[in-house]
Amino acid sequence: MSEDHDGGYDLVVVANRLAVDAVHDEDTDDTGVSTDASGRRWRRSPGGLVTALAPIMRPADAAWIGWSGSASDSPTLEPFDAEDMHLVPVHLTADEVKLYYEGMSNGTLWPLYHDVIVPPEFHREWWDAYRKVNQRFADAAVETVAEGGSVWVHDYQLQLVPALIRSRRPDVKIGYFHHIPFPPVEIFTQLPWRKQVVDGLLGADVVGFQRDSDAGNFLRATRRLTDNTTKGDQVRVRTSRHLTEERYVRARAFPISISSEDFAAVAAKPEVRARAREIRRELGEPTTILLGVDRLDYTKGILHRLKAYGELLSDGLLKSADTVLVQVASPSRERVEHYKLLRDDVEQTVARINGDHGGIGSAPINYLHQSVGMEEMAALYLAADVALVTSLRDGMNLVAKEYVAAREDLGGALVLSEFTGAADELPQAFLVNPHDIDGLKAAIVRATRVEPAEGRRRMRAMRRRIMRHDVHRWADDFLGYLAMAAPGPRPTQEDS
Ligand code: G6P
Repeated sequence: MSEDHDGGYDLVVVANRLAVDAVHDEDTDDTGVSTDASGRRWRRSPGGLVTALAPIMRPADAAWIGWSGSASDSPTLEPFDAEDMHLVPVHLTADEVKLYYEGMSNGTLWPLYHDVIVPPEFHREWWDAYRKVNQRFADAAVETVAEGGSVWVHDYQLQLVPALIRSRRPDVKIGYFHHIPFPPVEIFTQLPWRKQVVDGLLGADVVGFQRDSDAGNFLRATRRLTDNTTKGDQVRVRTSRHLTEERYVRARAFPISISSEDFAAVAAKPEVRARAREIRRELGEPTTILLGVDRLDYTKGILHRLKAYGELLSDGLLKSADTVLVQVASPSRERVEHYKLLRDDVEQTVARINGDHGGIGSAPINYLHQSVGMEEMAALYLAADVALVTSLRDGMNLVAKEYVAAREDLGGALVLSEFTGAADELPQAFLVNPHDIDGLKAAIVRATRVEPAEGRRRMRAMRRRIMRHDVHRWADDFLGYLAMAAPGPRPTQEDS
């Protein structure tokens, strides 16, 4: 970046993860690697958030604050430029990774916000680390943002950051986007620090959610836990001790999306199409390929999907001789207990189904515990007759959107859980309640047997939505809304 940024950056994105991860010396794969001025190697981070934001950061005059993804006890990393972005690393010690990231973020908040699919744990020392790390991110933002600039904070790991920034920089506009569900108040109020979290979020001018229901849950929590009043999507926040000043916070849905054109263009490449044909050949030219692509996370309903698939094979409604399920499960949060347990359960179930229904040189499930690059992913989408998205709870689910964007041929069918944000936008999918195994089985069968004309009609309608509502529109909508927000307190009449 050639411009002088002594005055700070007009737009500062703050997210738990930096847009890039450090590449270790022993990693000899140079795919997607860029090298900074001091010779360190970086690669774009996995995960929906980075995928969503990278395209809008590149051309912008913006900085990205985040954690590099590895723990160290010596804070050595200076800000640097890579992937055409200005990156400001936040340092976490090994202890903080354990308490703030694995503990409070992924052992407490993640399960609490996803319908308590596994029981959240509440530990005061996790909370203390969360507060401390949130302060560090806020300090970095305060030092990086230009006078009158904007800060856009992301996700549940950083819910205290908006208020912490506001207390030091009332001149800046602050946006916050919550990528995961915001739970109903009956669940949210289990959190011992629920009031602090709501107050932290109310430090923003705009609080964005994936679905209307998430925004509604947040507004209800605000009314229940604070003295502030709400009207429509607006919260009136009393700011001074004598309640003589107020500001307005807007809370509403901004459903996130993907870079649809880019994704469709990758899927349209001749070599990707050729790879899709090759995948079919490698799988033995089955009549039907089913596909699941997920982080290996208990929210994704992978076990429910496997159960339904295994029963369909047993019932003979799908024939193992001509059906293959490709399940990509990318490694995630591997040191968190529930993720270890889930991996064991999934792998045992896959082995059992393959053992029961496989033959020599053929297996009904092709299981990949690895991350897959964008081109290979697009080829898998093209090869798949049916994509299975069976989340028990999911903020949005970008896999569903990627699948639709890839299918310019209007082929393929999408089985989609109604508990995803994507379901609000894609009613033409085969919508399912993944807890209802019979319903899920019936939907899979319908999707595999859909008449071509009906399949095309469904896919065309879904593509129309996804191609228009892409990540650029999402970011423009959010930032446009934020631009209209007035920073700082607004004096009102003295309360009596
Ligand atoms: C979800 C969250 C992101 C997170 C990503 C990957 O998409 O909303 O905030 O970055 O999962 O999870 P990880 O724990 O590896 O960052």
